[in-house]
Amino acid sequence: MLDPYKIREDFPILKRKINNHPLIYFDSAATSQKPRQVIEAIKEFYEKHNANVHRAVHTLSQEASELYENAHEEVAKFINANGMEEIIFVRGTTEAINLVAYAWGLRNLKREDEVLVTLMEHHSNIVPWENLSKINGFQVKYAEVKDDGTLNYEAFENAISDKTKIVCLPHVSNVTGVINDVKRVVKMAHECGSLVLVDGAQSVPHLPVDVKDLDIDFLAFSGHKMLGPTGIGVLYGKRRVLEEMEPFHGGGEMIREVTFDTITRRCSISWNDLPWKFEAGTPNTCGGVGLMAAVKYLKDVGMENVKAHEETLTGYVMHLVQECKKVRIHGPKDASVKCGIIPFGVDGLGSHDVALFLDGYGIMIRSGFHCAQPLHEKFKLKSSARVSFYVYNTREEIHRFVDVLKETERF
Ligand SMILES: Cc1ncc(COP(=O)(O)O)c(C=O)c1O
Repeated sequence: MLDPYKIREDFPILKRKINNHPLIYFDSAATSQKPRQVIEAIKEFYEKHNANVHRAVHTLSQEASELYENAHEEVAKFINANGMEEIIFVRGTTEAINLVAYAWGLRNLKREDEVLVTLMEHHSNIVPWENLSKINGFQVKYAEVKDDGTLNYEAFENAISDKTKIVCLPHVSNVTGVINDVKRVVKMAHECGSLVLVDGAQSVPHLPVDVKDLDIDFLAFSGHKMLGPTGIGVLYGKRRVLEEMEPFHGGGEMIREVTFDTITRRCSISWNDLPWKFEAGTPNTCGGVGLMAAVKYLKDVGMENVKAHEETLTGYVMHLVQECKKVRIHGPKDASVKCGIIPFGVDGLGSHDVALFLDGYGIMIRSGFHCAQPLHEKFKLKSSARVSFYVYNTREEIHRFVDVLKETERF
């Protein structure tokens, strides 16, 4: 099992006091805190190896390129991809999904086609498809979510047809923490000849994810939610699918040759190998190095341990919160069907009021729509408060949180 007290030693920020109280960070679904190992890796990169990658023959450029390539390889191993050719570094989940929409969708989706997403999507898996549908004219369909926040698989099956060209779903909901049965959806989608894009922003940081086992075509996730720095994320794609796609952005790094024909006065361009074909311009090398350190850290902790730890903390909250008469937990109450994300409300108080009250006691939680307004509308909620856990959170912190929640009720 994981020892959160030992882990906490690696996170300098957790030593802070906020409003004269020890910091309790319950907002890791928004962004995680960073361990010393990641901070040091970034510092060391700039102090010793900084140069542009794949550009020069000098020693520093060679070192930076090697580190950057190693980062791709580490990420590939982490999610059991076939190799770095299937790992594209992007800014985050949002950019990864936009990459699929514009590099794959723009060319492949026709007026008669359908894109199937779910009602529990983060806006970043809705807006790119709605925007693109205005250009290409296809229909975006929304798969239903049950009242308890779980996916309605029967409705899902009915919604998929030969018209469906891509199915998009979150592996884990960022509002309820519900873990979706991705394998089941992939089977339905592939039987209809559709691709599957999984938003792994809330799963890759919190549970073991194996892209081969799930047989998904695309997986998008963000480094900053998994102990890594901001500005770096990943799009995994099956090699065959990526090879058939045209690039997203054009510029340096993503080309093999740009030759000028003096007769036609046009340039003829050929693409670089994967994954560079999708990484135009100078990349976020240092972000890649930080992400590699984060992945190594999580591997050392063990993803099964991360999942088990969060399940224990979630179960603990569910149990203790029963003592609070005015607190309502939204979504499933069973900790085993979800990751460490719990949305809730306090009768008579808005979610921002609850969050501000908790902040007064040094407890950081999220409030609002969490970029998932359709799901809140489904739950008939104006907004919700949300706690989310990670490797550094403890039972003691949960005790403290529930004690302060009781104060909130009195307030
Ligand atoms: C499920 C889910 N998808 C996508 C995103 C967007 O991630 P990013 O802002 O890192 O691109 C988030 C962020 O909260 C998320 O939780």
